[in-house]
Amino acid sequence: MENVNCSTEKPTSCSITDKGCRISNNKENLGEYWCTMYTDADITKLGWYEAESTPSLELINKTNAKKDAAIFNVGAGATTLIDDLLKQGYSNLIANDISSCALHKIKTRIGNAKDTVQWIVDDLVNPTELQNLPQIDIWNDRAVLHFFTEEKDQKTYFNLLKQKVKPNGFVILAAFNLEGATSCSGLPVKRYNAQMLQEKLGNNFQLLQAFNHDYTMPNGDIRKYIYTLFQKNNTNLK
Ligand SMILES: C[S@@+](CC[C@H](N)C(=O)[O-])C[C@H]1O[C@@H](n2cnc3c(N)ncnc32)[C@H](O)[C@@H]1O
Repeated sequence: MENVNCSTEKPTSCSITDKGCRISNNKENLGEYWCTMYTDADITKLGWYEAESTPSLELINKTNAKKDAAIFNVGAGATTLIDDLLKQGYSNLIANDISSCALHKIKTRIGNAKDTVQWIVDDLVNPTELQNLPQIDIWNDRAVLHFFTEEKDQKTYFNLLKQKVKPNGFVILAAFNLEGATSCSGLPVKRYNAQMLQEKLGNNFQLLQAFNHDYTMPNGDIRKYIYTLFQKNNTNLK
């Protein structure tokens, strides 16, 4: 199915195209929308598929986190990052997505190791179960934040992040950069640079590293990302 790629097209099997693709506060429909991408597709053909999540892994390793650090992967999709973190011995992984179909792909792939991961199907911009998330050491987001184009959704996302990241904890945000695509998977995106992300996080987070990264999609197209690593100050100020 060609148009499951990170393109400007909506997937033909999207059941909510008549109402638009982003239905605020409608977790089921948004989850269903993303499910169509994962259930119908070979994940290696998805426009955001990485055989190895090298930039994210490098930033996680750069934090020098202990192997039992709580690493929270938001909008994890079917990412192979979970497999790689498990292989590296990280033992306290939490994977979230609005689409249970996406997380199911990871669970099937990693077999028994799935029991060592905490799985949370919930909407980052209308969180319910995520409110009970414990304090975490590393918040990791690749290609999720940029889908939140409405201010109120960005506010909810960053409020959750600020509440849940421990003092001295880390935040890794990878989003389309200012030269990046304006839409993905039939959805509009908001593009960022490091300064914009710093403004969203506020003064309680220090930027440790930022770099642009050209990701080559399975179809050969390039998607331009900004990767950032922030550290929270040793206080709980908002
Ligand atoms: C482009 S994919 C990226 C997946 C993964 N982070 C990766 O790098 O392979 C975006 C993911 O965000 C998830 N997502 C979109 N909106 C979400 C929301 N409101 N809450 C949680 N997950 C969401 C989608 O289901 C999808 O798996």
